[in-house]
Amino acid sequence: MQTIIEKAVGLDEDSEWLRTASKILRAGGLVAFPTETVYGLGGDALNPLASEKIYAAKGRPSDNPLIVHIADMDALYGIVRDVPEKARLLAEAFWPGPLTMIFEKNDKVPLQTTGGLESVAVRMPSHEVARALIRCSTGYIAAPSANTSGRPSPTKADHVVDDLNGRIEMIIDGGEVGIGLESTIVDFTEDIPTILRPGYITQEMLASVIGEVRMDRGLIEESSGIHPKAPGMKYKHYAPKADLVIVEGEPEAVTTYINAQAAFLREKGESCGVIAADETVCLYQAEQVLSIGSRADEESIARHLYDVLRRFDDLAVKKIYSESFCTPVMGQAIMNRLLKAAGHQVIQV
Ligand code: TXA
Ligand code: MG
Repeated sequence: MQTIIEKAVGLDEDSEWLRTASKILRAGGLVAFPTETVYGLGGDALNPLASEKIYAAKGRPSDNPLIVHIADMDALYGIVRDVPEKARLLAEAFWPGPLTMIFEKNDKVPLQTTGGLESVAVRMPSHEVARALIRCSTGYIAAPSANTSGRPSPTKADHVVDDLNGRIEMIIDGGEVGIGLESTIVDFTEDIPTILRPGYITQEMLASVIGEVRMDRGLIEESSGIHPKAPGMKYKHYAPKADLVIVEGEPEAVTTYINAQAAFLREKGESCGVIAADETVCLYQAEQVLSIGSRADEESIARHLYDVLRRFDDLAVKKIYSESFCTPVMGQAIMNRLLKAAGHQVIQV
């Protein structure tokens, strides 16, 4: 299949990219598009055949449900059985934005879109390109992250091209995304609203609007055998080709340890990579040292995480050591992804 790759120039209904993309979506085809979190791989959420195509293009297990993207509140009431008051309050506070909420679905939503579940995940993105696309198509776009299953989520159109060129009808290039980590997911099918995936909207931000919010036990105790409730969180995600290890401890001890490991590997004729911050990047002696962003600007760390992991896949290193990035606000979301990428390999020094 020839994939159309077009820049999102202009937002009115007559824009060339928008006319082409909405025609493809209405016909049941697939279009990758930017959102404020990561690029999504979109298909008509109410068309079961489109959802099946999404799974096939990504190589994604079909029991892993998709998020339905909407552009206004009326669209939410059209696909769920009930909107709890607390969910309405969160929508008022954080939509449009990087928050996904899970509700009981109604019969309009095909089981193919929800991976066979009776619940549906819904998000109203704030990115203008995503909003225009939803409005000009059927109003409901099912979109997982636009990566091949198991690779880091795409934060640039180039990442999508790398993974999906030739497998989908169109890729819309809207530049680099702003946040770089997938949305926070809150489940409203439990008695107490529960975070199934941490993201830019933190537990504290949610609690300040609706009071008690739980963290899925499967997230906190991932090593204890309790599975996370979001099916997608149980897969080994975001895994780089090289073996990734996170090194935690006092900054000086971390640098010393990683440099010693790099020297040891060099002696064996193996090259090694390091993921560091702007502030420490010059302290490492290894073959490939990449900065992820500044510790003084934790949003820059979130934004670059996936790009750095992808860049390492193109570099000939077998081992990567990473600093830890438990930053004050986004640290939980950043470390959730980084720990998964490392298969939970952490060394304390
Ligand atoms: O920021 C985002 O959320 C991006 C952009 C494109 O919007 N989308 C995204 O989709 O990250 P995806 O498919 O890569 O991740 C969706 C996650 C998966 O872990 C899936 O298992 C979970 O949401 N999920 C979806 N529907 C669910 C449901 N009904 N119950 C439990 N988990 C659900
Ligand atoms: Mg994903």
